[in-house]
Amino acid sequence: MNTDSLFRPFSLKSLNIKNRIVMAPMTRSFSPNGIPTADVATYYQKRAEGEVGLILSEGTVIDRIASSNDANIPHFHGTAALDGWQNVIKGVHAAGGEMGPQIWHMGIMDNHHSGWVPSAPFEGPSGLNRPGFNNGNTMTEKDITEAILAYGRAAADAKRLGFDTVEIHGAHGYLIDQFFWEGTNLRTDGYGGKTLPERSRFAIEVVKEVRRQVGEDFAVILRLSQWKPADYTNQMAKTPEELEAWLNPLADAGVDIFHASQRRFWEPEFQGSDLNFAGWAKKVTGKATITVGSVGLNGEFLGAFAGESSEPSSLEELMRRMDRGDFDLVAVGRPLLADPNWVKKIREDRTSELKGFTKAALSQLVLD
Ligand SMILES: Cc1cc2nc3c(=O)[nH]c(=O)nc-3n(C[C@H](O)[C@H](O)[C@H](O)COP(=O)(O)O)c2cc1C
Repeated sequence: MNTDSLFRPFSLKSLNIKNRIVMAPMTRSFSPNGIPTADVATYYQKRAEGEVGLILSEGTVIDRIASSNDANIPHFHGTAALDGWQNVIKGVHAAGGEMGPQIWHMGIMDNHHSGWVPSAPFEGPSGLNRPGFNNGNTMTEKDITEAILAYGRAAADAKRLGFDTVEIHGAHGYLIDQFFWEGTNLRTDGYGGKTLPERSRFAIEVVKEVRRQVGEDFAVILRLSQWKPADYTNQMAKTPEELEAWLNPLADAGVDIFHASQRRFWEPEFQGSDLNFAGWAKKVTGKATITVGSVGLNGEFLGAFAGESSEPSSLEELMRRMDRGDFDLVAVGRPLLADPNWVKKIREDRTSELKGFTKAALSQLVLD
């Protein structure tokens, strides 16, 4: 199969990527007390050596006491953690890759099975992480202002450490998405409201602060999803017009690239067109977009957490959409988690050597 269009370079502001393949952000929980280890650096360097164009780090949390529910998720604040990240970006650059951290605040969470909890209650727009499930505090306006500043500091640190971009995690039911979703944002002040554009105020202010901190020339990515862990079929924007009303203010606030998260990239976003989420995001904003979701595998990722295995699958449908210009970049998760050389094997058409994905790959940092 002809995959040439995956191997064209891509440049946008601070990004100069050798191909269109992005490593999707994947939480690994291998950073004791929030500090990325030498193994974490090796894990990312191996993916850069394997020719991934742009690596997005696992979600790495901003400087709020309750931004994480797991002691082994990395921090993107504090000298020791940032030194660890400095080591990561050095290794990735030495191997010819580019990278951005995914900066994250988890918002209201379920308690972690380890029993570890942060030293302050979880915080979110209305204390809810899904309708009817309260597990933390409703943020005051002061909390909101401080969280926005913490996102900005993390972005400034990413640039200072030499990363090539930064991704703001606005998807999958975490803090920013808890503001977007009417099921978790019941606020009656200026951060709530009946419409999605009204509930986007927090995200817009985060993007503006990040942009203010990194300047105009640094590429800023925002990851979004319509689906939530509590509702895979959820659609916050039900029509292209609603999508436009959601995304354009975010673009105006400073987003350069929308990372449109789906579980299966081939699923159409709206009836009457086969365009997916990334396709529509590009069409309504004119911005660059990243697609993602079961590229090269026959099963989706949440099934993988439940123990389902996936086999390699054809890239034909992906290439059809890519060649049509639906999106600019393609993020790949589990295949790169299981095999650092996935990109090289695709480029060299070594399809018989591609690996499937089993839950076993989740329990270790696969270094070779
Ligand atoms: C182990 C694992 C951890 C993940 N952690 C994150 C994360 O930290 N941030 C995020 O935005 N998505 C996360 N995801 C979702 C992936 O970025 C990606 O969207 C998903 O795996 C679909 O891509 P795939 O089908 O190629 O695996 C995670 C997925 C996996 C498998």
